Amino acid sequence: MRPPHPIIAAYILAGAVASYLLLSFIVPSFSSHIVPHSLQWDQPESKDTNLGGAAITPAPAPAIPSPSPSPSSAPTPPAPLTLEEIQEKESHLLDSIKGMARDVLEPKGSKIVLLSASDGHGHNNAIANLFERATSNRLQYCAFHDYVYQYIDLSRYEADGRSAVWHKIPAIKDTFDLHPDAEWIWWLDMDAIIMTPTLDLASLVLNPDVLARRITYGEDINDTNGKPTGVRVNSTLDVSDVDLVVAQDFSLNAGSFFLRRSDFTFDLLDKWLDRANPEFNQNNEQDALNRLIVQNEDIRSHVGFVDLRLINAFGVGGRDMGWYPGDLVVHFAGCWVHKECSKRFEKLWPQRHTFDRDF
Ligand SMILES: *[C@@H]1O[C@H](CO)[C@@H](O)[C@H](O)[C@H]1NC(C)=O
Ligand SMILES: *[C@@H]1O[C@H](CO)[C@@H](O)[C@H](O)[C@H]1NC(C)=O
Repeated sequence: MRPPHPIIAAYILAGAVASYLLLSFIVPSFSSHIVPHSLQWDQPESKDTNLGGAAITPAPAPAIPSPSPSPSSAPTPPAPLTLEEIQEKESHLLDSIKGMARDVLEPKGSKIVLLSASDGHGHNNAIANLFERATSNRLQYCAFHDYVYQYIDLSRYEADGRSAVWHKIPAIKDTFDLHPDAEWIWWLDMDAIIMTPTLDLASLVLNPDVLARRITYGEDINDTNGKPTGVRVNSTLDVSDVDLVVAQDFSLNAGSFFLRRSDFTFDLLDKWLDRANPEFNQNNEQDALNRLIVQNEDIRSHVGFVDLRLINAFGVGGRDMGWYPGDLVVHFAGCWVHKECSKRFEKLWPQRHTFDRDF
């Protein structure tokens, strides 16, 4: 992508400086939080050479919170805050950063909904206050870019008798209904943190001109065992047909992906949710989606695979998978296998770039 025209850049810079001065005057605490990246806004983007985009120096990491007391001596923890309580607690900050990103590229603003959901019974109870922290992190990201944040309590779908992993699908459908302006939904698992909130989703991946350069045409789409299938994204794919943007670790990972409102998408959601899928009994919605894509060229012609780190970097892993400063998100996928969720989370949480460190 080209850097902004110099005159536009000057306007953006002037606007940013004016807002900064105004805000630091009105909100004394604002300047100390915003300084680390306020200088970065107008740098030419470096996304083509660096997956994560603009080089942002993370604020110095505060001390890692002391480990929670052992369960035997622990007093009963306070009830977790609700979404509304978190919003209320943060309302001043959210108002002060609202729309400050001034994103230019489409899609932007309320055309993008960030959707997170939980049934409260995931593997990640090991991470202290995960709901509050992840929610605060997402609310700030959405406020800064004027995106819409939607949280859905998946227990509302329990009556259908399926296991919770499948409930993300009706949650996505309901989110399209709840937000008629939404063009794109970003599904993001609860156990992920937005690390570089200054990145906007259009210039990172969703704008068609950007997406055309992000798609990994040369790579095999692996099967669910992480074995190459010989099937790839069709090199004649028209990016304007792409309705699903997703990435693979060794095979497709459905912890962070983008779906665009379209007839294709609603049809795909129905096929994905179909009880006839062999994965249905294995509680594995991720493999079902992978198989649908590998086996059906008509589905594949609407799917853009991108590098994992672009939209779904992991808490551990090498250059291909693990989070590096500047990457958009870190997802603690599979951390429960080695009971390392809390350890990995507390190591990276302080390294996120943020507008506020009070939480
Ligand atoms: C790629 O797309 C073209 C045009 O839609 C189609 O004719 C062709 O069969 C596709 N190739 C593969 C390998 O799916
Ligand atoms: C696909 O599988 C191969 C073999 O396991 C692996 O080397 C490769 O990294 C996988 N591709 C992706 C994109 O993860």
